[in-house]
Amino acid sequence: MSLYTRSAPGKVILSGEHAVVYGYRAVAAAVSLTTTVTLRERAGASGIEESAIRDDRVWPALATVVPPEGLGVTIRSEVPVGCGMGSSAALTVATLRALAAREGREASFDELYTRGFLPERVLHGTPSGVDHAVSALGCVVVYRRDAGQPQITALTLPRRLRLVVADTGRGADTATMVAGVRERGPHGALRSIGALAEMVAAHLQRGEDPGPLFTENHALLRRIGVSTPQLDEACRRMVAAGASGAKLAGAGGGGVAIAAVDSDSELNVLEAVRAVGLRGFAVSVG
Ligand code: PMV
Repeated sequence: MSLYTRSAPGKVILSGEHAVVYGYRAVAAAVSLTTTVTLRERAGASGIEESAIRDDRVWPALATVVPPEGLGVTIRSEVPVGCGMGSSAALTVATLRALAAREGREASFDELYTRGFLPERVLHGTPSGVDHAVSALGCVVVYRRDAGQPQITALTLPRRLRLVVADTGRGADTATMVAGVRERGPHGALRSIGALAEMVAAHLQRGEDPGPLFTENHALLRRIGVSTPQLDEACRRMVAAGASGAKLAGAGGGGVAIAAVDSDSELNVLEAVRAVGLRGFAVSVG
């Protein structure tokens, strides 16, 4: 019995979510949590054998790249599922890597990026591609998609950025959140979010704290209607506890908020997250 196992990391969007769908830049970072896919050769139709991601769309999404016959798929995930930390993109990338391994090769970035849109479209409607691009590259990237072509710059950070993540539990559906923004058409705010993302990238490259820009970014995300009272409260509490800034990260409507912390503030900020009944954990990026 042949098994092929590959992993890919989740991500956080440091700046630029939603605006990136309209061709503006976003900054996203891979995190050290991974989703792992195992393909098992078996007789008969392909299908999921076990999955940490419980979503009816998972098999229709994977069926866009997994052959219809002969493979059982097992999905394990350290990436919290359905909360804007990229579990679906990590699933997509891990699956494509495992399929390539079955053919005795490594998948190239171009293959992961191009074919990654197939499952991502089933899961997310009209994805910008930032999620699976950052998962495939596994670092901090500035991402933009212009006329269908990606422009991706990997950033080298002079120092790692420490973040506290506040997880509200389940997030809203990304496709629904993106459609809501499209309907409201807040073009000025989207342009401002794009400009902030460029400033965040510049701050990170200079080793400067992007925290205050996170807080500005969050205010704009509120303005385009993707925040919730719970996310607003989490951001407020994290800043009051000593974070230099905080924002929702990902599609919004739930999901996670992130705060920039240092070694002095981290424990206080984690405590503040738990005090409002949310799950909190710290990650480093860069
Ligand atoms: O995958 P999520 O839920 O973190 O959201 C992705 C970011 C969006 O900009 C909202 C959508 C996209 O395709 O870029």
